Amino acid sequence: MSIKVPSSILYPLSSVRQCQGLGFLGLMLIASVGVTNCRQDMHDQPRFEPLEANAFFSDGRASRPLIKGTVARGRLRLDKHFYTGKIDGELVATFPFPITKDVLKRGRERYDIFCAPCHDKTGSGNGMIVQRGFRPPPSYHIARLRGVPIGHFFDVMTNGLGAMYDVSDRVQPRDRWAIAAYIRVLQRSQNVAIEDVPEEIQKELMKQ
Ligand code: HEC
Repeated sequence: MSIKVPSSILYPLSSVRQCQGLGFLGLMLIASVGVTNCRQDMHDQPRFEPLEANAFFSDGRASRPLIKGTVARGRLRLDKHFYTGKIDGELVATFPFPITKDVLKRGRERYDIFCAPCHDKTGSGNGMIVQRGFRPPPSYHIARLRGVPIGHFFDVMTNGLGAMYDVSDRVQPRDRWAIAAYIRVLQRSQNVAIEDVPEEIQKELMKQ
């Protein structure tokens, strides 16, 4: 008696070898329980790989083009203020969400990781990478950068500027705003009028 095993079942080779090792009796046994042991259907499914060709469609591609206007989940980004720092092409002067102490703490943490290596922890632009020869960035404390709208900082982080690469792949939009807010803190820390300091501390300072 001969058993005709469909070739699809004997594929891939590893499972064929497995079957041969079992001999005729084994094969009979396997055939009787539905040939399930050697099947690799889960591994070798009848499906198209990405970018695979297919003559069925007129454009010769197995994958269908996206319908016009399709937006990937989570990519709608209608909030231009939040995602670009601009409204109608103009840099915004406001934050897209309230800046709390926690946001500032987060901003400081992210700033120290992603910006301080070049801009240094006070924002004067003399970080370790600069000390090792990288082009020095301008200090955040110059009049021009103290005067720019907040959207500028978000924009530089999002799109880069001159020698500075953008950080949009590693710093998410909300964190970019938190960093921008913390830059304002740094700017204020270096440009405080004596009247802004609490009175007890003013007295301390006057003594020095
Ligand atoms: C590898 C070094 C490096 C890192 C890291 C870096 N910067 Fe810069 N940054 C520069 C340099 C260099 C410039 C000057 C670019 C130029 O004018 O060509 C600059 C310029 C800037 C400016 C000034 C733009 C202007 O109007 O002149 C801002 C704002 C800024 N960076 C923000 C950031 C923030 C925020 C981070 C962290 C998320 C950061 N940078 C990380 C090197 C760096």
